[in-house]
Amino acid sequence: MRILSGIQPSGTLHIGNYFGAIQKIVESQEKGDLFAFLASYHALTTVKDKELLEKNIFEAAVNFLSVGIDPEKCTFWAQHHVKEVLELYWLLSNHTSMGLLERAHSYKDKVAKGIIANHGLFSYPVLMAADILLYDSNIVPVGKDQMQHVEITRDIANSFNNHYKTDIFVLPESKVDENVATVPGTDGAKMSKSYGNTIDMFGTKKRIKKQVMGIVTDSKELNEPKEWENCNIYKLCELFMNEEELKELQERYATPGEGYGHFKLTLLDKINEYFAPYQEKREHFIANPKEVHEILAYGASKASKVASEKMRVLRDLVGLI
Ligand code: ADP
Ligand code: TRP
Repeated sequence: MRILSGIQPSGTLHIGNYFGAIQKIVESQEKGDLFAFLASYHALTTVKDKELLEKNIFEAAVNFLSVGIDPEKCTFWAQHHVKEVLELYWLLSNHTSMGLLERAHSYKDKVAKGIIANHGLFSYPVLMAADILLYDSNIVPVGKDQMQHVEITRDIANSFNNHYKTDIFVLPESKVDENVATVPGTDGAKMSKSYGNTIDMFGTKKRIKKQVMGIVTDSKELNEPKEWENCNIYKLCELFMNEEELKELQERYATPGEGYGHFKLTLLDKINEYFAPYQEKREHFIANPKEVHEILAYGASKASKVASEKMRVLRDLVGLI
């Protein structure tokens, strides 16, 4: 079973990215034939500065390796190192209706936020379909917001398969973990770098503390009992604590005497403790960039084998000999 997922190297990772996507991707190494890549071409839709893109790709590679991506257990590469994906993107474009792309929530949201629509942004889901279909992916672990893109991939694959009367493309399924489908941000809305409500995965201690201390709560006093049910601090604690610890925390909420500041410090300790082992590995890779580039090149050579064979068959099928 092939499991494929990509993540855009478009900025600092937050714990929403980690629990919503990265953790699932890393776990998939043990469950099937994982193909994980840095969606560097996709990042061009938002990052248009050369130095920044280079930095983001390197950092994303470092981050993935730090949290446990193992280049021997999976195929791990940067999207732009395997160019067949762009060729497939063009073949698929000719089987993608405008209406299908016009209905994409992610595109509509970005336009509503004032991002100027260009063709790259509009056709983003076609490139994503190419990523998925090029490697015969069965399962695509993603956050909820990406589910529609996997649906679009299935639509495009179906159109293509029907047109050429073939089953060349495997129809992929998205996989969303309902428990952590949407990690809330410090203001209670979906954590997202575009809302400025994130908690970094690898920020400095000082920065993470500032972010945690900024979590929005109601204004109950120290001597009042508090409700954990709708509390943003508690919701984030759920990601880091076991049942017993959560029970204990619920009791602290119910007992007057502590304020939200105390609960925030408990959460902060949990976050620091959780990411500390990854931090160490991260420092190793940052100090050894050559090793990181070699790992990506090795992954690209593995991905290329699958991609070039698939494109050979596809060119033949459509009449490009
Ligand atoms: P952002 O919203 O910060 O721009 P991205 O769109 O780059 O994040 O998302 C990268 C991956 O992380 C996607 O698979 C997305 O579904 C997941 N993800 C992002 N934010 C969250 C969140 N708050 N909860 C769960 N998953 C998330
Ligand atoms: N669009 C995805 C995101 O923003 C990244 C991505 C690109 C992807 N190609 C993919 C995810 C293929 C899964 C499969 O998170």
